[in-house]
Amino acid sequence: MALIAANWKMNKTLNEGITFINELNKNIDDVSGNEILICPPFTLLNEISKIKHENLKIGAQNMYYEESGAFTGEISPLMVKEFCEYVIVGHSERRNLFKEPNQWINKKVLCVVNHGLKPILCIGETEEEKKKKKTNEVLETQLKACLKNVSENQIKQVVFAYEPVWAIGTGKNATPQEAQDAHAFIRGLLTDMYSQTTARPLKILYGGSVTPENAAELIQQKDVDGFLVGGASLNVDSFVEIIKKSKK
Ligand code: 13P
Repeated sequence: MALIAANWKMNKTLNEGITFINELNKNIDDVSGNEILICPPFTLLNEISKIKHENLKIGAQNMYYEESGAFTGEISPLMVKEFCEYVIVGHSERRNLFKEPNQWINKKVLCVVNHGLKPILCIGETEEEKKKKKTNEVLETQLKACLKNVSENQIKQVVFAYEPVWAIGTGKNATPQEAQDAHAFIRGLLTDMYSQTTARPLKILYGGSVTPENAAELIQQKDVDGFLVGGASLNVDSFVEIIKKSKK
């Protein structure tokens, strides 16, 4: 079963979110057979959790690693846990625009799993790093730093997202072969760090300009277990099309 996740980023007011979910609920039979996750802005979590079909899951786009306190503008695991099953951590927009270091992302991964939630840990190289053929080096550095002290038992709760920065919001997706190579490399690292039995069933999502046009070919790749969709998840029709084409 593929996991298809919508990352709405900083989009949709409350009413827009409600309209989307009501429409998606109507299409729920069409999208059965996949795990579907919606990650809306925090302001929509409460309402969406009330109106969504039971087969839809909810995730947060970010979270701080302390339970409470003087952290203006942040949101805690206890707050997220009231509505969500998943939390995206280490998205490249958090890394690059908000300067989140691997060390913080590592703390977030541990905090998310320690609260019984599932992190979606994003890693990926920039265009410049790709040009310098440093993709694998970057993936290894990010993965190892973000998984420091994550036990074999805890890793089973973690979902991975390979999101090459050059593919995000650019309309320039990784080719199926590029995605497969990166995903196989990530699974190989996880095998070395943990074990083959543990690494094999872990989900590695691809993110970066996924559309109804390229989803089918990408999902056919052996190590692509689903998608983290940005732009194309903002429209119900295109999101449903992607899900329909992503049977695994
Ligand atoms: P796009 O699908 O808009 O390229 O965004 C991908 C992404 O960043 C998902 O987290």
